[in-house]
Amino acid sequence: METIRSYLGGRVEVAVGDITLFEGDAIVDAANSALAGGGGVDGAIHRAAGPALMAECRALRAGPLPEGLPAGRAVATGAGRLPVKGVIHAVGPIWRGGTADEPAILASAYADSLSIAASRGWDRVAFPAISTGVYGYPKALAAKVAYEAVSSFLASRDRPRVVSLVFFSRADAETFIRAVGEPGRA
Ligand code: APR
Repeated sequence: METIRSYLGGRVEVAVGDITLFEGDAIVDAANSALAGGGGVDGAIHRAAGPALMAECRALRAGPLPEGLPAGRAVATGAGRLPVKGVIHAVGPIWRGGTADEPAILASAYADSLSIAASRGWDRVAFPAISTGVYGYPKALAAKVAYEAVSSFLASRDRPRVVSLVFFSRADAETFIRAVGEPGRA
């Protein structure tokens, strides 16, 4: 994984690569409400973690989350074989044209994930670009929401120490950087 940009004195990093290779405290999964696994980054995370991760997701559905996890919320599990302590399963909004509260739901998915990380004492956390694949959220619009949600969370807290925003392609990372512009230098 290669870091190509940082913001907020190094507390937010933009990286390019496969999030399953992230070596820190936790990675965030772009999950679905059923916690049922799927394609995209969710499929990659479950494949790399091994069956223990799905077993934990099933146990959450059988126990505290019988209705699943609503969009905008997150829940943590262990990480199976991944080289991190935990996986935070976050559900982003499905893009419906921008009039179904998508920005607030996306911001909430980031903020809830960060609250969980903070409460567990996880200092280095990586996010994929939630909702920007199968769920169809336009990447530049999602970038602004993600940056705003992460930076406003970090502004009032010491934890997590560093948040990595991991893009699967350099083009996606560059779209993010362009969309965010030069925060603080406007
Ligand atoms: N590492 C980092 N980013 C990745 C990886 C990876 N290994 N694989 C895919 N991505 C990127 C995609 O390029 C996309 O920009 O993750 C972003 C999110 O895309 P999706 O994984 O499709 O997630 P999302 O749009 O939130 O849709 C969630 O898709 O797979 C299902 O179960 C999942 O139903 C849920 C839905």
